[in-house]
Amino acid sequence: MTRTSKQRALLGAPLLWLALATPACEEAWDYKKQGSGGGASLEGGAAGRGAGGATRGGAAIAEGGAVLAGGSAGAVSEGGTLGAEAGSSSAGEAGSLAASGGSASGGASSVSGGAASGGTASGGAASGGKAPCIQGGTSSAGSAAEAGAAGANEPVDFSKLVLTPPMGWNSWNRFGGNVSEALIKETADALVASGMRDAGYTYVNIDDTWQKSRDACGNIVPDAARFPSGIKALADYVHARGLKLGLYSDRGTLTCAGRPGSYGYEVQDAQTYAAWGVDYLKYDNCYAAPGRDNDTAMRQDYTVMRDALRATGRPIVYSICAWWFQPWMPSVGHLWRTTTDIEDNFDSNIHGVISLVNKNGEDASRFGYFDATRSDSAAYLPGLAQYAGPGHWNDPDMLEVGNGGMTDIEYRTHFSMWAMMAAPLIAGNDVARMSDATRQILLNDEIIAVDQDPLGKQGRPISASKTLEVWSKPLSGSSSYAVALFNRTAAAADISVSWSELGITGSATVRDLWAHANLGSIVSGYTATNVPSHGVVILKVVGQ
Ligand code: GLA
Repeated sequence: MTRTSKQRALLGAPLLWLALATPACEEAWDYKKQGSGGGASLEGGAAGRGAGGATRGGAAIAEGGAVLAGGSAGAVSEGGTLGAEAGSSSAGEAGSLAASGGSASGGASSVSGGAASGGTASGGAASGGKAPCIQGGTSSAGSAAEAGAAGANEPVDFSKLVLTPPMGWNSWNRFGGNVSEALIKETADALVASGMRDAGYTYVNIDDTWQKSRDACGNIVPDAARFPSGIKALADYVHARGLKLGLYSDRGTLTCAGRPGSYGYEVQDAQTYAAWGVDYLKYDNCYAAPGRDNDTAMRQDYTVMRDALRATGRPIVYSICAWWFQPWMPSVGHLWRTTTDIEDNFDSNIHGVISLVNKNGEDASRFGYFDATRSDSAAYLPGLAQYAGPGHWNDPDMLEVGNGGMTDIEYRTHFSMWAMMAAPLIAGNDVARMSDATRQILLNDEIIAVDQDPLGKQGRPISASKTLEVWSKPLSGSSSYAVALFNRTAAAADISVSWSELGITGSATVRDLWAHANLGSIVSGYTATNVPSHGVVILKVVGQ
């Protein structure tokens, strides 16, 4: 594609561009003006992706983003020769494309196109897209270093950020696209008032749809109607209550709900997050940029953001959300999704609790699990427990406890099995309006202690039975185990564990962590009687 006259002018007159670009930084483009109309139809979050993950996301952008592709193609081809100017000129183009009904995301892609030819995606975005903005007085970079919580002289040890699985709350499961400043403040207050903060739920994570657009400098712009005070003020509010703030973005050109993704803007976005005081980033996998809908590019894209976050100097927890496990993930993220999106049901489909336990919980081979949406070797998930440990965790998705689709017995099982799997405990309910039953589940400190045990071992099923299951999770302390007696069947049943299955000889002390009752010192094993259908008994067993 030939250069437009505007691009030629920009190449020839970078200083003029700087001068012209600065005021335009205030003028945010709106993704909804895209010719494809993709944004509005994706607002629910489900469209454009699904169990198939990036493949479907990629397909969706190819279909829904015909204008996007057209908009970006020329700029990408220009990227290599435009060099450092590519990012800034593309950003400028984004504004004008949007105004003319074209594609602002085309601009985003063009930034990364230029970047890719120069080395890494983030490099081009940073040097090309950002420099004029700094001179123009926009906010994100200048204050990033000051925002680093560790301070300039104390490098952050990212391997020590989540020595136990992260705990907190996330907006998506209950509120979907209805996030707002008011909701986050209300939830932060409720986390404090309910005792959840003091029980360990410290991350308050805003999921998809907080973003609106990018300004002409490429800076991510929050949805001002929903977040009128901006994210920095919200972070201050949350921090003042002893909590931490999390945000969401995506490695692609758009998020799963069609908001601007971070592809090509990784460094700029990471610096913005740091400047705002963000403590956690969930990074999704929708709408891979053209040509990047494959595992190699996925690894690169996630690594670019990891490095960008680290470079800020702020201790930001990095949550990979790519819906299945890849062996490189433990060296890139602090946690990584191992499953499709959870739904608020126990066992009625592949998004239910049982399916996620099977996939995340070392059960793949026991259940002959096969992911028909994958065509590569990862279709057969490996035993995942080996990858969990202090600083890095398997993530079977956020909690549904309290959202209404399961019985309290099932919610207790959901919560218990997440604790047995050393999973992140990210509540997903309406904390300000939860029932006493929900509160009692989320605040069972003995179950939380199983999850948060400093040994950081993920529990595994140890029984031959696949219906009346026994799971074991080694705990810190000598000969100490959490044991789950889990009834998957439709009728109440007795379930037994013998100490020899745990490696304990002789007698052991036993405590029931839901009954909050010591059961005494017991020889050789224990049988829980009448465990309800879909129910679980969780024991702490300590050998002599
Ligand atoms: C994906 C993720 C979800 C949620 C939505 C938001 O589906 O897996 O957890 O973040 O995107 O659009």
